[in-house]
Amino acid sequence: MQRVLSGVQPSGRLHIGNYFGALRHFVPLQDDYEALYCVVDLHAITTPQEPARLRAATLETAAAFLAAGLSPERATLFHQSGVPAHAELAWLLNCVVRVGWLERMTQFKDKTGSHREAASAGLYVYPALMAADILVYRAQKVPVGEDQKQHLELVRDIAAKFNHDWCDGEEYFPPPEPLIDAAGARVMSLRDGRRKMSKSDQGDAACIYLRDSSDDIARKLRRAKSDADALPSAEILGDSARPSAELLAARPEAWNLLGIWRAANSETWNDTLARFAGRGFSDLKNELTELLVEIVVPVGTEMDRLLADGDEIQKILARGAEKARALAEPVVRGAAERMGLLR
Ligand code: AMP
Ligand code: TRP
Repeated sequence: MQRVLSGVQPSGRLHIGNYFGALRHFVPLQDDYEALYCVVDLHAITTPQEPARLRAATLETAAAFLAAGLSPERATLFHQSGVPAHAELAWLLNCVVRVGWLERMTQFKDKTGSHREAASAGLYVYPALMAADILVYRAQKVPVGEDQKQHLELVRDIAAKFNHDWCDGEEYFPPPEPLIDAAGARVMSLRDGRRKMSKSDQGDAACIYLRDSSDDIARKLRRAKSDADALPSAEILGDSARPSAELLAARPEAWNLLGIWRAANSETWNDTLARFAGRGFSDLKNELTELLVEIVVPVGTEMDRLLADGDEIQKILARGAEKARALAEPVVRGAAERMGLLR
């Protein structure tokens, strides 16, 4: 059976971008693959975290996995720091990845902007730790949102270089493939359709969180940025199945709300456009509110229920970490030996 692995950072409250871009796609995979899902706490500390909040966010992220429908019997759910082999392999891979490759990572550039000098070294080598998360299980498939495509390509380059440099070309690490929602769900901020909806936009109206109430959802959508024109019809797509970069740039807010509808309703762009063609933003916002309340509120309610007993979640993570350690340790040992490190 092939393996899938994915990770979500416990760096803040989870939002509908995480849900439609990632979590929701994790669930069906547990039936067809050996699935490993990890709360990547070591990634979270690449930016400053308050310890008590990090602990709470780790449990909340695990609760979101469970509330989305992952079963601890079918999938292995664990916290990254519970499996030291991730950090061990990350060090080995830091010595494989080239600075020139890391320099190209747009996420690092986006996150640091003009404050590059003040970023942690951990944030810079973040993709090598991500490579370790995946390669330490030799996972073949990695379900992620579209924003992680560049990181996945880097992971493939790191795997290939390791195989070439240390294994005479033997495929010690198979190249992992991204599984990205065919329609490329990327949910943008409700306040600025050009920016990704992100956990680091804490506490504002830009994000719909999984634990938001129906009222929160309605209010945030009502206030979401819009423009003055009627919504476009399907003809605007031409022969393409989805809006082009030019279309997105011309009306980012319209495409974002339509895109959230499309993702939430699991339908094609054509169907979504046909439904809203010529109508105004307020219609879209009202219908979207209803749809999101139906999908998101039950997930949030289940998270609340699970989080009322944090011990139970901790037990699930500890059991998952134990299983994951048994898989990961021989792989990191084998990699270390190939590099000439003594046992
Ligand atoms: P992160 O919040 O960066 O740990 O991301 C966890 C997962 O959610 C990853 O698979 C991301 O690709 C996905 N994700 C995060 N933000 C978004 C977004 N705004 N739209 C779609 N997917 C997202
Ligand atoms: N970098 C991913 C993100 O920000 C999170 C992540 C860490 C991940 N390790 C991973 C995703 C391994 C997939 C596989 O979304």
